[in-house]
Amino acid sequence: MTLYGVGLGPGEADLVTVRGKRILEDADVVYSPGRLSRTVALEHVPEERIGDLEFPMTRDEEKLRAAWKEAAAEIAPNAREGDVAFVTLGDPNVYSTFGHLRRTIDAFHPDIDLEIVPGVSAVTAFATALGVEIEAGAGLSLREAASGASPTGPDRMILFKVTDAPATHAGLVEAGYEVTYGRRLFMEQGETLVTDDPAEIDERDYYTLAYAEKADLEIEQATAAFRTDGTDGPSSDESIADGGSESTVAGRPSANGPLSGRERGVEFRSLPEDSDVDGTLVDLERAEGCEHGDCSEHWY
Ligand SMILES: C[S@@+](CC[C@H](N)C(=O)[O-])C[C@H]1O[C@@H](n2cnc3c(N)ncnc32)[C@H](O)[C@@H]1O
Repeated sequence: MTLYGVGLGPGEADLVTVRGKRILEDADVVYSPGRLSRTVALEHVPEERIGDLEFPMTRDEEKLRAAWKEAAAEIAPNAREGDVAFVTLGDPNVYSTFGHLRRTIDAFHPDIDLEIVPGVSAVTAFATALGVEIEAGAGLSLREAASGASPTGPDRMILFKVTDAPATHAGLVEAGYEVTYGRRLFMEQGETLVTDDPAEIDERDYYTLAYAEKADLEIEQATAAFRTDGTDGPSSDESIADGGSESTVAGRPSANGPLSGRERGVEFRSLPEDSDVDGTLVDLERAEGCEHGDCSEHWY
């Protein structure tokens, strides 16, 4: 039978694909590598069909390899007997733990049939959440900014694993980027936050990304004419004075071409004063990051 790698999307239960949901509902066992993915899976699968997998909180590659071998040995017999699923947040093929499992299964249990169900990745979900339009023809690079790193070069970048936003921000601004941050986008657990102020997210939270765009980037689009041509539509002044709804509401990108973060009018949300930011969320982040087996930046 088959082992399905199922992408759960960014975290909200109804962002799982129809196919993913069907496979989760039909699978004999649904394996989850972390607490957040387990919580999302539980929206579709009764608890008795969830198979928890233990991963050590370590960067030691030897120990991680042993853990993946053990996970594969647990999953393989069930995948021979019936259909099983292994869930990951986002897409299984984007910066994901599923790759570790797939390679381990390929190496030690090559007879197992394997199928992947794509999920809504943070790579695409960020655009809606942050009100960014990646227009046809534009380039977009994915980078990692763990431990305050500030990768530079491309005109537009998505940065994953933003764990020290102030440090990352300093490097990016120095290199001429405008940056917007998104935390826990489309997630049911924890507070969603979109901001261009790194001080608002100086508490580490694993589920934080950034979108960086060169400040001097010039984009010409046919519909840009609507910004100044009073006969065909409102000027940008009018639309922004009206509350900027065309360019902003529910993350709908502007028809006038990409604007800077503030101009985009993205609803920049702060956490409430009494939010338990440094308790629950950070604990979840640490646990999830390591339970996924990707504490090590070199474990592939
Ligand atoms: C190991 S990658 C997993 C990516 C996932 N497989 C996907 O396709 O979205 C984890 C990183 O993705 C980003 N990320 C994933 N989901 C997110 C979300 N809902 N909100 C903000 N960032 C998210 C964060 O930067 C986090 O550190």
